[in-house]
Amino acid sequence: MAVIPVDLAGRSYEVHVGPGLLTRLPELAGPLLRKTAVPVIADANARRHWGGTLDQALRANGRTALWYDVAPGEASKSWSELARLTDWLLAQGVERGDHVLALGGGVVGDLTGFACAILKRGCGFIQLPTTLLAQVDSSVGGKTAINTAAGKNLVGAFHQPALVLADLATLATLPPRELRSGYAEVLKYGVLGDAEFFDWLADNGARVLALDEKTLEQAVATSIAAKARIVAKDERETSGARALLNLGHTFGHALEAEAGFSELLLHGEAVALGMVLAARYSARLGHLPMIDAERITAAVDAAGLPAELAALNFDCDGAALVEHMLHDKKMDAGTLPFVLLRAIGDAYLDRAVALADVALFLDEQLRSH
Ligand code: GLY
Repeated sequence: MAVIPVDLAGRSYEVHVGPGLLTRLPELAGPLLRKTAVPVIADANARRHWGGTLDQALRANGRTALWYDVAPGEASKSWSELARLTDWLLAQGVERGDHVLALGGGVVGDLTGFACAILKRGCGFIQLPTTLLAQVDSSVGGKTAINTAAGKNLVGAFHQPALVLADLATLATLPPRELRSGYAEVLKYGVLGDAEFFDWLADNGARVLALDEKTLEQAVATSIAAKARIVAKDERETSGARALLNLGHTFGHALEAEAGFSELLLHGEAVALGMVLAARYSARLGHLPMIDAERITAAVDAAGLPAELAALNFDCDGAALVEHMLHDKKMDAGTLPFVLLRAIGDAYLDRAVALADVALFLDEQLRSH
């Protein structure tokens, strides 16, 4: 098991990574579990696979789980679900010093985290992420949010968990497409800040996707450690350091929007293709050697993730994608900061990208295959 500290003044916590951690929850959470009845907010699929394990672990410790089911999918990150959940937590008598458990992927983590941020002006919570994407990204760093009619994650709060247990055993029940989608975020840490990790993934990525225990633990722990370092430097995304985690997300978000945030393109798939586009655009500007853009494309392709805009199974064009970018929540005083690359492992924030040029570039990409 690996233990990664997230160092934040007054709000530091640990992320544990390893197989079988749900079984050890009472031991690892220790005094964070104050009462015998423990509220568990769970994605319905995660509960189906892992609810019994958690029930048993709590029972063996003289506790019981109070289950609250969340329907899988982004639609659960809504005002109405937030209201339903906060009312339920209040009805259970949850107090500020209590810790609510969030079992599932990013949807459950974001919804539970936000409910806990506002419940009695803030109560504790523990993230039990069961998807690769949630383990290496959304469960760590304290971003919590719901969606509104105006867009994704537009209402939320920074609220750090008190503990994160990334149980690698839970990844065995993930559909392969979701596993690959999460792997895009693993690859992202190599591309944005760690060339050595990128090279290691080139040799070991297939073993990670095959869930080889040791290799998987190393990949997840290295990813979380990278995120923890960035969050400790720039918790609220004000200095530009945390914004680098958005590598691939500006292109990716536009693609997801064009696909109607549907099954046509999962978040990680959009991020993977977005990283390829950010790399090729960096090369087009003369900032990144083309060979590096090609290596990133090859890594995305080798993981079974989409690497070509022209090969997507829905129609899009440069103007439509740039139109989505204009509504990106990262728009700042009329400019959209792009995460671009100087080398593999060396990302930077470019606030001077001309969106008209991005539209031309995207049309070139669409024509090039
Ligand atoms: N997922 C990006 C961040 O946590 O900042």
